[in-house]
Amino acid sequence: MKKLPWGMIGGGTGAFIGGAHRVAARITNQYQLMGGVFDVDFERAKEFARDEGIPLNRVYPNIDEFIEGELALPAEERIQVVSIVTPNFLHYEHARKLMENDFHVICEKPVTITSAEAIDLQEISLRKERVFCITHTYTGYPMVREMKRRIEAGAIGELQRVEAHYLQGWINPIIHGGGGKMATWRLDPKVSGISSCMADIGVHAFNLIEYTTGLEVKQVLGVLNKLTPDNPLDLDGNVLLKFSENMTGVIRASQIATGEENNLQINIYGSLGGFHWEQENPNELKMLHEGASYEIIKPGYEFLSDFARESHVLPPGHPEGIYESFGNLYKGAAMAIKNEPTVPGQFPGIEDGVRGMRFIESVVQSDKEGSSWIAL
Ligand SMILES: NC(=O)c1ccc[n+]([C@@H]2O[C@H](COP(=O)([O-])OP(=O)(O)OC[C@H]3O[C@@H](n4cnc5c(N)ncnc54)[C@H](O)[C@@H]3O)[C@@H](O)[C@H]2O)c1
Repeated sequence: MKKLPWGMIGGGTGAFIGGAHRVAARITNQYQLMGGVFDVDFERAKEFARDEGIPLNRVYPNIDEFIEGELALPAEERIQVVSIVTPNFLHYEHARKLMENDFHVICEKPVTITSAEAIDLQEISLRKERVFCITHTYTGYPMVREMKRRIEAGAIGELQRVEAHYLQGWINPIIHGGGGKMATWRLDPKVSGISSCMADIGVHAFNLIEYTTGLEVKQVLGVLNKLTPDNPLDLDGNVLLKFSENMTGVIRASQIATGEENNLQINIYGSLGGFHWEQENPNELKMLHEGASYEIIKPGYEFLSDFARESHVLPPGHPEGIYESFGNLYKGAAMAIKNEPTVPGQFPGIEDGVRGMRFIESVVQSDKEGSSWIAL
C-alpha cells in the first residue's frame, strides 16, 4: 500500500520525543518522511535533513513557508499528514494552520495551552474533515487495550474506584539548583502553559483513566505543590475525582518524586474484581478476582480481544514496548486517513484533547480556590 507523505514540525536533532515518533511511523511502514520544520533553528533543521536523506527543498524555516511550499506542489507529491512535536504553546497555531490548509494532524499532548484553543481545533477538524490524533502514548499498549475491552464487557462488574499515579523525579535536581530553573521549558509558563506537572504527566493519567474505564470525570479537587515560592508552576499534585455518587478516584502526579523514573500505574476496581497495570512493566496486566488469586494476562495470545491481539505483532514472550505502543497510534491514524474502518479507542482524538485541557484548567482553578470541587 502506498505510504502517506508525512511531515514533522519540531523533532530535529537533540529533541526528546520526535525520534520516538519517527520509530513509531517506521514500525507501521505506512508513512514516508518527506519534509518539515524540524527545528526552531533553520540551519540545524537543514543539517538534520541531510542526515535523514530528506531533500533540502522540503525543509522550511517556519509553518507559513511550509504550507506555502507544500501547497505549491502537485497534490500527489504533497505532504498529507504532519506530526507536531514542538513545545506546548506552539501546538495550537501549528495545528490550526495545518488543518485550515487541509493537512491531517498528529499532535503531542497537552494539545494546546487553553481549553478554548482545543475547542477551536475540534471545530476545525470537524469542519475540514481532518484526522486529528493526539499521542497519549500509553493508550497504544496491548494490555491497556485488553483492560479497556474487558471493562466494556463487564469483566469486573460495576466500576466503583480508580487510582492512577504518574511519578517522575527528573525536575528535582533542576529545582534544587542543578542547571537553573529554566533548564527545562516545562517550568516556563509562556512555553508550557498554566501547569507543569499536571499538563505534562497528570494529563496522561487522566486520559488513561477515561480511556480504560469509558467514563467521564465529572468533578475534580486539586492540591498542587510548586515547592519554592519563586517557581511559577506546579511540580506535584494530588487530585480527587468524582464520576458519580458511587464512583470516585484519585490521580497523584509528581516531577519531584526523587528517584522515580516513569512510574505510571493505574488500578481500577469494580464490583467483581479489578485491574493493575504499570507502564514500567507493560506486558503484564494483573486481573484481580474477589475471593480468588489474581491472574497475570500477557500479550500475543489467541484468547485476547481482537484489539489487543492486533496491537502486538510478535508471538508471546517477545516483549514489545513504548515504540510499538506509539506505533499503534500511528497505525490507527493512518487507517483513519485512508478511510479504513477503525474501532472505538483506536487512537485518542481531539475530543480527548478538549477533555485533557479541561482537566488541567480545572485542577489549577481548584487549587487556586483553596481546593474546591470544580466541574469539568
Ligand atoms: N507523548 C509523550 O509521552 C510525550 C513525551 C515527551 C514529550 N511530549 C510532548 O512533546 C512535545 C515536545 O516535547 P520534547 O520534550 O520533545 O521537547 P524538546 O524541547 O526536546 O523538542 C522540541 C523541538 O521543537 C523544536 N521547535 C521549537 N520551536 C519550534 C518552532 N517554532 N518551529 C519548529 N520547531 C520548533 C525544537 O527545535 C525541538 O526540535 C511537548 O508538547 C511535550 O509535552 C510527549
